[in-house]
Amino acid sequence: MKFFVDTADTEAIRELADGGLVDGVTTNPSLVARTGRDFFEVIREICTITSGPVSAEVAATDAETMLAEGRRLAEIASNIAVKVPLTMDGLKACRSLADDGIMVNVTLCFSPSQAILAAKAGAAFVSPFVGRLDDISTDGMTLIEDIVQIYDNYDAFRTEVLVASIRHPRHIVDAAKIGADVCTVPPDVLRKIARHPLTDKGLEAFIADWAKTGQSIL
Ligand code: E4P
Repeated sequence: MKFFVDTADTEAIRELADGGLVDGVTTNPSLVARTGRDFFEVIREICTITSGPVSAEVAATDAETMLAEGRRLAEIASNIAVKVPLTMDGLKACRSLADDGIMVNVTLCFSPSQAILAAKAGAAFVSPFVGRLDDISTDGMTLIEDIVQIYDNYDAFRTEVLVASIRHPRHIVDAAKIGADVCTVPPDVLRKIARHPLTDKGLEAFIADWAKTGQSIL
């Protein structure tokens, strides 16, 4: 399973990339707005931190403008994945961008039938939002199960399932058990995965016992 970081905070991306945990990055307009920085400057900087796919989202809602914006975004770096919404216009733009050899991440996916359309439109990634479904009392992980099963039935569907709107480590474990290709994870959730109280307790005891030996390895 690949880990993308779900943020436009370049410091957080740098820190996690140094730990070898970053296979790519996803951003969206809300995450970019949170930085208060220039959109192009932020995306350009992220593309220097990771060589993995970096999702940058179009702002337009009509296919023609989305296509023009997508082509402009793709000029930033070769690892840009243009993010388009899962609408008829978004799918149309996706088809054209994919035909140009540009990676496309079709975002805001909330149903298996929408995911089928993304695959047919040649998306490199589809982003089902598990957390936002959980928020309205619908099991987000069932959507991941459905999409993975459907895509597995067809060799022609090359679209990777990118689990988005992740809120806690359990989402990642469940997505991994299902066999989803990618999880895009907020930095604080990625940091939480490493933590376990028994790890801390065990380490404390080992440090204390090692000190009693009076030895050193180096
Ligand atoms: C990523 O591509 C999505 O934009 C993101 O995961 C959405 O997460 P949220 O539902 O926590 O805003």
